[in-house]
Amino acid sequence: MPRHFLSISDLGKDIAKTIVLMALDMKRTNYRGDALKGRNVAMVFEKASTRTRVSFDVAIRHLGGQTIFMTPAESQLGRNEPLKDTARVLSRYTDCMVVRTFGQEKLEELARFSSVPVVNALTDRYHPCQVMSDMLTIFERNENLEDVRVAWVGDGNNMANSWLNAAAYFPFSLAMATPEGYDPDPEVVETAKAAGAKLTICRDPKQAVKGAHFVNTDVWASMGQEDEAERRGWVFAPYQVNDELLALADPDVKVMHCLPAHRGEEITEQVMESDRAIVWDQAENRLHMQKALLAWLFS
Ligand code: CP
Ligand code: NVA
Repeated sequence: MPRHFLSISDLGKDIAKTIVLMALDMKRTNYRGDALKGRNVAMVFEKASTRTRVSFDVAIRHLGGQTIFMTPAESQLGRNEPLKDTARVLSRYTDCMVVRTFGQEKLEELARFSSVPVVNALTDRYHPCQVMSDMLTIFERNENLEDVRVAWVGDGNNMANSWLNAAAYFPFSLAMATPEGYDPDPEVVETAKAAGAKLTICRDPKQAVKGAHFVNTDVWASMGQEDEAERRGWVFAPYQVNDELLALADPDVKVMHCLPAHRGEEITEQVMESDRAIVWDQAENRLHMQKALLAWLFS
């Protein structure tokens, strides 16, 4: 059975921490290695991507490997060849698959039929590579995670679910404010609670942000939800991350966003362009975290 990385919960607490430390070390040393020397990685992307695609591509090169990029438009995926068939075929050619798709169940099926490691490059349910990299972004600013208060404001989406997974493994406290009807997955919340995560789940963004050291948000309509964008714009308006909301946070608050950001919607131009935004470090850390994740998968 190959190792897969379909959600943060696949890692286990100790490995998750080790991977953050590995990524930090790789960042500090501008790491180059040979974990993927002579290996080929298929990058199967059914949704658009800038950061995930390029950071994986560069990370794989830094580890000595090569990539093959595939989209539905240019492969048989777009003509309804099932992912499970694609999985078995690509397993015969390549050494790893990095996959961005819609349903988590599609990714799980693909992994079941794959004889090589499969990495979740985002599904509708989770975005584990992003949140692992966000853990690095927080950790490099404050190694005492017990003291760190993180707020999530906005949609209970794939990012929110992965943050809940992270809160089950890392000792920061997480306050999450989402509007009614846009909650994170209740099963993910329960699992995190049962694992001892320090969680506050509420509706009021002001409550979530109060005293927070890191305030996180994300787009109001994720990829695949474009038809709902207008309605979501109304529902989420009180959840905008702006100066007024941030006035309630810790005076030294940092603002996080996985990007792409929609200025004037979930975040203001002023906040995005202020020193409080650490979004470019977050984007950079994707590269270091992808290297650590791949090195672990092939260790
Ligand atoms: N944050 C993130 O995953 O960005 P991309 O969609 O550009 O990969
Ligand atoms: N929640 C967003 C994240 C993009 C990186 C989406 O799924 O579109």
